[in-house]
Amino acid sequence: MASQTQHPHLPLPDYFPQLAKVYVRQTGHSTLNILTDVITEHVQTSAHPVGPDSVVHDTAAGPGIGAAALIASLPKDQLPKELLVSDNVATMVSTARESLSASPLPHVECKELDSQDLSSAAVPDNHFTHSINNFSIFTFPRPAAAVRETYRTLRPGGLAVVTCWRRFAPVFIVHAAQKKIRPDLPLMLTPNPQFCEEGVLQKVVEEGGFAKDNITVVDKVLVVNDDENIAGLTQLMSGPMMAKAREGYTEEEEARWAPSVSQAVKEEVEQFGGIRFEAYILLATK
Ligand SMILES: C[S@@+](CC[C@H](N)C(=O)[O-])C[C@H]1O[C@@H](n2cnc3c(N)ncnc32)[C@H](O)[C@@H]1O
Repeated sequence: MASQTQHPHLPLPDYFPQLAKVYVRQTGHSTLNILTDVITEHVQTSAHPVGPDSVVHDTAAGPGIGAAALIASLPKDQLPKELLVSDNVATMVSTARESLSASPLPHVECKELDSQDLSSAAVPDNHFTHSINNFSIFTFPRPAAAVRETYRTLRPGGLAVVTCWRRFAPVFIVHAAQKKIRPDLPLMLTPNPQFCEEGVLQKVVEEGGFAKDNITVVDKVLVVNDDENIAGLTQLMSGPMMAKAREGYTEEEEARWAPSVSQAVKEEVEQFGGIRFEAYILLATK
């Protein structure tokens, strides 16, 4: 069953539970690599770097992407003393817990929580020094409510990182593949596509409580051009996760899906030198 706190327009109702185990491979490490760069280039060079006294929340964390990015970008003695990893999908939380069981993080808790309402876990006001919301905001039915929770639970002076896609490459590739087989059928929908437009993320973060003057947005481009990550992304687009794109297909058309995705990937790589992701990176202080 779909969680009522998940966006109704995701490709499949059980999209995220299915994805948990294979998430990092099938995203081509895109969300992890971008967040790792953001921590190195923007958080650690800011007035609020993460350090051993930090208390961090990664909300809608998937299988622990924020934790993995912190471990990848910080020396062991700079890791935060506490990290809360939360997601509202049980398999994401259990995958995070398993993968972090032997991590160098001093204290990490993995909990099933709705980003839009953290009160079920009694997360107190003014608690975290840093809050991460990486490539998840567009999946929420109430994005501003999630930002409000980030704002409420962040300490004054604390830093929030909120990211979203400007160009989510798999959608363009899937659309290209659809057009090759059944150009007459509607293209697959994506949740909250308005977030790809300039200014929308910032507006929602202001609506959630952050002052305009305390918000910075930068653009980031990631071109995925290594074979292993391209193969992972191709698998995501070819498989059951993108079943919505094939609605109304005959068996013969279904059989053409994987080759059509591979051809669309080839065209993307020819055009951009790899699979091109573009993102908005927002940093806000309370
Ligand atoms: C695109 S993934 C991003 C995951 C991770 N932050 C990353 O950087 O890759 C979106 C995540 O948001 C989670 N999610 C969706 N709605 C949620 C909600 N209302 N509360 C908490 N997590 C949610 C999904 O289960 C999924 O793990």
